[in-house]
Amino acid sequence: MKGGGGYFYEWRMKQLSLLFFFVVSTTFVVWSWGKNPLFNTIFPSHGQVLQLFPGGEVKVKEVAQSKDDLREAQRFVNVSPPEISINTPSLNTQEDEGAVNLASPLVSINTPSLKTRGDEEVVNIASPLNSITAPSLDIQGDNKDSSTAREKHHGNTTEVVEKSVSSEGSETYIDSKPPKQQLVEPTSPKKQDSDVEEKACNFGKGKWVRDADRPLYSGFGCKQWLSPMWACRLTQRTDFAYEKLRWQPKECQMDNFSGPEFLKRMQDKTLALIGDSLGRQQFQSLMCMITGGEDRQDVEDVGREYGLVKARGSVRPDGWAYRFPITNTTILYYWSASLCKLEPIDPGNKTTYFAMHLDRPPAFLQRFISRFDVVVLNTGHHWNRGKLNANRWIMYVGGKPNTDRKIADIANAKNLTIHSIVKWLSDEIPKYPGLKGFYRSISPRHFFNGDWNSGGTCDSTTPGALEVFKNESSDSMASGAVKGTNVKLLDITALSEVREEGHISRYSIRGTPGMQDCLHWCLPGIPDTWNELLFAQI
Ligand SMILES: *[C@@H]1O[C@H](CO)[C@@H](O)[C@H](O)[C@H]1NC(C)=O
Ligand SMILES: *[C@@H]1O[C@H](CO)[C@@H](O)[C@H](O)[C@H]1NC(C)=O
Ligand SMILES: *[C@@H]1O[C@H](CO)[C@@H](O)[C@H](O)[C@H]1NC(C)=O
Ligand SMILES: *[C@@H]1O[C@H](CO)[C@@H](O)[C@H](O)[C@H]1NC(C)=O
Ligand SMILES: *[C@@H]1O[C@H](CO)[C@@H](O)[C@H](O)[C@H]1NC(C)=O
Ligand SMILES: *[C@@H]1O[C@H](CO)[C@@H](O)[C@H](O)[C@H]1NC(C)=O
Repeated sequence: MKGGGGYFYEWRMKQLSLLFFFVVSTTFVVWSWGKNPLFNTIFPSHGQVLQLFPGGEVKVKEVAQSKDDLREAQRFVNVSPPEISINTPSLNTQEDEGAVNLASPLVSINTPSLKTRGDEEVVNIASPLNSITAPSLDIQGDNKDSSTAREKHHGNTTEVVEKSVSSEGSETYIDSKPPKQQLVEPTSPKKQDSDVEEKACNFGKGKWVRDADRPLYSGFGCKQWLSPMWACRLTQRTDFAYEKLRWQPKECQMDNFSGPEFLKRMQDKTLALIGDSLGRQQFQSLMCMITGGEDRQDVEDVGREYGLVKARGSVRPDGWAYRFPITNTTILYYWSASLCKLEPIDPGNKTTYFAMHLDRPPAFLQRFISRFDVVVLNTGHHWNRGKLNANRWIMYVGGKPNTDRKIADIANAKNLTIHSIVKWLSDEIPKYPGLKGFYRSISPRHFFNGDWNSGGTCDSTTPGALEVFKNESSDSMASGAVKGTNVKLLDITALSEVREEGHISRYSIRGTPGMQDCLHWCLPGIPDTWNELLFAQI
């Protein structure tokens, strides 16, 4: 996309793609009108929002937001591992991860009071039922539905577009004819080249190359957003070759990431990352990449606008939102490990079970989708029996407790959720022209010779390989879900899979002997590349 054309050319491109997106969306709306009444009954309109309870508090709770968190917290206090089963799934998402550790009984967390440091406050995990209450929602004033802001993009032109489905299942729409080109100046041959390039481009295939200009920010810096627990430069680690590799797609030119350029593309826009702790890593990485790791006093914390405030007694808010006033760009992360709607079955009961609506979007996403311009979703590492039990999540389908034995299988439940959320997002996209939706494929874990709690390690200081040859995604569940939808696959699995040396490993500010983190990544590091791929596609 980059090239000789310069700024004017880019501007034209932007205009073209906007027009183009508009046409595609309109076509989709017209086409889908009335086709999916059934889906509408399953998913109420997005105006219908979070289940509010007296006092405006959302009573969605999770027992210890994640095992990762427990593990993170643990690292600081050096206590014996909580007996929670963290069978984070293996790379092969088809497998029933639940089977791995089904033996482990209901979780009992006998972690004493934990004192964490850095950005986390004092955690008090006194009992297994310790729950973290979602923050109170501030739903007045500027939190009103801003869909009107988007209405201006609405239109009803229809033009013939042609769909082409790539081998990965992500879909691109290409004009069969260039009618729009009559509206703008004649395009250069370069423009056509990049069109073709975009169509054929598979960002997931390519190789890692050494680049003296990496990393994009210093692991000693970015204190404003980077959690110390993920900043491997602050640990005992001495090998940092992993910071120096840049991903080079084979079939496509990928723009060099540039913070100012990112902000320019996201002028007056909001990017939302929603998912588990790996999504949070991607969020922190993105903040550091945009700022180059430098302190930015101008950036505003706008969490309140989205109800992202720390509730009393909770470890942290359910997410963060920051705005760059210079371009009016908002970057947001929301914690949703299951990526589906959680609802207390008995709201008045402190120890209530939760309906885990496999086929419904997280309430937060449903509420705020009209305010987002780019949405990046992920889930994966929380789909195991121990986690569901610990959180008191009961699978619901169609608003009722699940009775289908096939769906009761964790892998199938996860598959259903991923398909449902992608379908839901795909159906939202035509309603908000300009909205782009991504599903990020699973981030691979690399526990060798054991699992996270049985001495599994990832000690390598060199990548397993530097090149990815295959055309298909390594995450077939994700690629299957996006196939034929408006949602694009942010396919990072295979390229991350060869980077086993990039995890936190045994390095941590205060390590727990015998336990390694082969799930999360050092930052700067591999998640930076996920954001480069994202940057190339927005
Ligand atoms: C677009 O829709 C509006 C009302 O829905 C109608 O008045 C107008 O004629 C339509 N324009 C085109 C080009 O179809
Ligand atoms: C990206 O940056 C590298 C230096 O890191 C430079 O060699 C290359 O030409 C740049 N690519 C583009 C497309 O600007
Ligand atoms: C910032 O962008 C939002 C849309 O995302 C818009 O509604 C708002 O008016 C913009 N604010 C300013 C100060 O331009
Ligand atoms: C609250 O829910 C638990 C199950 O989660 C149940 O055992 C208990 O009896 C309930 N308490 C009340 C007061 O309903
Ligand atoms: C996931 O669900 C989809 C749609 O229900 C189905 O077509 C697909 O075969 C399932 N995949 C797996 C791995 O179960
Ligand atoms: C990948 O696809 C290309 C065509 O796009 C084909 O030439 C190549 O053989 C395929 N590679 C593999 C490993 O399947």
